[in-house]
Amino acid sequence: MRKIILLFIIELFFIENLFCISPDKQKQLDWFKDAKFGMFIHWGVYSMIGRHEWVRHYLQIPLQDYQYYVDNFNPIDYDPDKWVDIAKEAGMKYIVITSKHHDGFCIFDSKSTDYDVMHSRYGKDALRMLVDACKRKSMVLGFYYSIMDWHHPDYIPRRKWEVNRPIENANLDRYIMQYMKGQLEELIKKYNPAILWFDGEWEHSIKEMHSAEIEEFLLKLKPDLLINDRLFKREPGYGDFGTPENYVPATGIKNPDGSSNVWESCYTMGYNSWGYNPYEIEFHSTAELIRMLVEIVSKGGNLLLNVGPTPNGIIPIEFVDRLKGIGKWMKVNGEAIYGTTPNCFEKLPFFGRCTVKENKLYFHIMGWPSDGILRIPGLKTNIKRANLLIEPQKQLNFKREDNDVIIELPKKAPDEIATVVAVELSGNPVVEQYKIKPDKNGVISLPVYMAEIQSRLGQRAFLDHCYNHTLLVNWRNTQDIPVWNFSTDSYTDYDVSLFYAGGSQGSEFKIIVDDKEINGVVKSAVSPYFPQNFSIGKISLPTGEHTLKVQILNIKSNEAMKLEKVILTRQK
Ligand code: GLC
Repeated sequence: MRKIILLFIIELFFIENLFCISPDKQKQLDWFKDAKFGMFIHWGVYSMIGRHEWVRHYLQIPLQDYQYYVDNFNPIDYDPDKWVDIAKEAGMKYIVITSKHHDGFCIFDSKSTDYDVMHSRYGKDALRMLVDACKRKSMVLGFYYSIMDWHHPDYIPRRKWEVNRPIENANLDRYIMQYMKGQLEELIKKYNPAILWFDGEWEHSIKEMHSAEIEEFLLKLKPDLLINDRLFKREPGYGDFGTPENYVPATGIKNPDGSSNVWESCYTMGYNSWGYNPYEIEFHSTAELIRMLVEIVSKGGNLLLNVGPTPNGIIPIEFVDRLKGIGKWMKVNGEAIYGTTPNCFEKLPFFGRCTVKENKLYFHIMGWPSDGILRIPGLKTNIKRANLLIEPQKQLNFKREDNDVIIELPKKAPDEIATVVAVELSGNPVVEQYKIKPDKNGVISLPVYMAEIQSRLGQRAFLDHCYNHTLLVNWRNTQDIPVWNFSTDSYTDYDVSLFYAGGSQGSEFKIIVDDKEINGVVKSAVSPYFPQNFSIGKISLPTGEHTLKVQILNIKSNEAMKLEKVILTRQK
């Protein structure tokens, strides 16, 4: 019996430890949550081939042939101070760089292997140089580390196409507990990274990777180390932060108990490769990236934006230009990004986002109101002052109309991408949430700016605004699904119509309202930008809460359509 009690106490101790965050760690987590914006760097031997960091796999390059690149890696123009300066100028607060990617090549001086930068033509510890530059310039640095390893003899499985790489004596346990663990120890002891950013975990279970043991080991070495969720196969609630990739989670990321988790969306600036790829020709625009950052921050996340330097060590101009643009915006508006907490409005009835800092609300207006009037519905707390961050001295006029606050803006947007209106309140924000319901004529309007865009890896669709119209553009992925919630107050039949412009004629879609569906086919709109009304069908809705989604089934050419809104009109 005593033994059982003892075991129980020991168990409790471990559970306690598991959920209890040390003060050091909490401090780091708080720093991370406030930092909001970081630079991801994918750089290694794969950069020399210049297609993708998976190039060895994509082109089925045998290890023997890949060795040529390993031997000749020689980034003669590499100047880590310049990289840090570029990140700083963009307003980034931290950097995460690939210490070892899937190909197994280490850009650091590793005692555990010769497959590292010291054995390449360069022969200098490139990671150490970045660590020193970051130290000089007070930039926080973290390391990406791939669990998957296409070079180490003990890592299994082999790629299907691999030949001449015997598997007989391979031992995954030895790989994890000796090689990987040993390298992680080296990385922490030699370079002291703030973050370990794991990846390449999908071939093995948490048990096979000894994830809990590895985490415990790492925290013993460095109690305040931040570790991402991929060491735990992205299981919600594990690791210090979630890592959605190339999409913005519709409503942020929550823990299993519903509380909001710490998370960081990582994004490529192009649409394809993380490593250097001069053949990539499509990029997210600066405007889109700024709005992406704002959206992520308004939902409680960070943005880790990637660059893929050339094999010589230069960050390509396409990235630098965009980062400069973001930096220019951040210089004016950084106050509304760093150290803020998520939006306190579930929905805003205009194209814009909100971030919060104690008694201050920041409205990032992306669709400037044509009458110059900003209406904030349901803001119960009184306003003390309102101004644009771009013109901090000049106060804006405001008044209250019942539950709404009305702020007078200049006629034209000072910054069309996102102009920030800072609103100082007399106390903590108290908000009555805005709900979509039928207007007095029985019309339910569902504009795209009031939808959540549900996406998965590879989000393409985003909102754009021009001349009084906010449209969902670049709708090229059928997994991007706008979703609205609304309520009705009587059992009624509705006519359903869509307003859209452009689009690819013949693409099929369906509108899903609760458990009912209406199928539709995209017609040709007259203008690529001016939305037209297309009647889709009829639907009966009982009284209550509803969810409506527009799901594209197939896209005939470039983008499905440029959707402006769904309109439900009560039948007479
Ligand atoms: C994916 C890619 C990998 C890249 C990572 C960044 O896992 O396979 O190459 O490093 O995304 O999150």
